[in-house]
Amino acid sequence: MEPIIETHGLTRRFGNLTAVDRLDLTVAAGEIFGLVGPDGAGKTTTLRLLCGLLNPSEGSARVAGHDVAREPQAVKDHIGYMAQRFGLYGDLTVQENMDFYADLFGIVGAQRTELSGQLLRMTRMEPFCGRQAARLSGGMKQKLALMCTLLHRPRILFLDEPTNGVDPVSRRDFWAILYQLLKEGITILMTTAYLDEAERCNRVGLMHRGKLIRCATPESLRESTGAANLEGAFVQTIREAEAAEAR
Ligand SMILES: Nc1ncnc2c1ncn2[C@@H]1O[C@H](COP(=O)(O)OP(=O)(O)OP(=O)(O)O)[C@@H](O)[C@H]1O
Ligand SMILES: [Mg+2]
Repeated sequence: MEPIIETHGLTRRFGNLTAVDRLDLTVAAGEIFGLVGPDGAGKTTTLRLLCGLLNPSEGSARVAGHDVAREPQAVKDHIGYMAQRFGLYGDLTVQENMDFYADLFGIVGAQRTELSGQLLRMTRMEPFCGRQAARLSGGMKQKLALMCTLLHRPRILFLDEPTNGVDPVSRRDFWAILYQLLKEGITILMTTAYLDEAERCNRVGLMHRGKLIRCATPESLRESTGAANLEGAFVQTIREAEAAEAR
């Protein structure tokens, strides 16, 4: 499989703190990859580096065939980034929020009408088109944020805890949309705090204190640790990493 995301020794320091520490990561085109890890592990910083929103202190990243530091605009044309706190305008309606992002991306006329129509149908948000974003449920807000992220037809999606605080039924809806996008050939790199979601990814990377300490399919992670579930496998892997650090 052709890699669509590739990092070599990617490192980002904030003062004395190394938020991302010599990360070597490869994601294949068409894959859904889940980045998991405790609070402060460096997941968001990794996504921001890959999106060209932060410069690396060391190392490099290639996304969609372009070096992120050297050709940030070429990268941005191909990616969609849904931040942990995505900027929706509460006093604007669903449609107005989409129009705002379409304006930002320069999507106009018939193309805009067609695309926003498609997205509203795919997410089943058509009935809520005229509702103010502030009055949407948590799950619907996330769907709206996802639609705004998809308006310029990115090939790669970076989703930072997209289902955080969303109820289980809406999370399932959200995942149905993600599978639809995968079918269309989009590559997804997401972070999640939910291990049942990590279980649905093709591969997962476990981050701890800025380092990628394991990277494998959910199945092989479970099998190699002998844990009953992914949660057990992660707890065990983190304990082993901490013990190795203490030695
Ligand atoms: N702009 C910044 N300036 C200083 N420190 C930062 C900055 N951004 C992140 N950090 C620090 O880098 C570390 C990694 O943060 P990051 O947000 O990447 O973690 P995370 O894995 O996304 O955590 P969470 O699960 O809480 O979202 C943390 O210790 C954080 O405080
Ligand atoms: Mg984060």
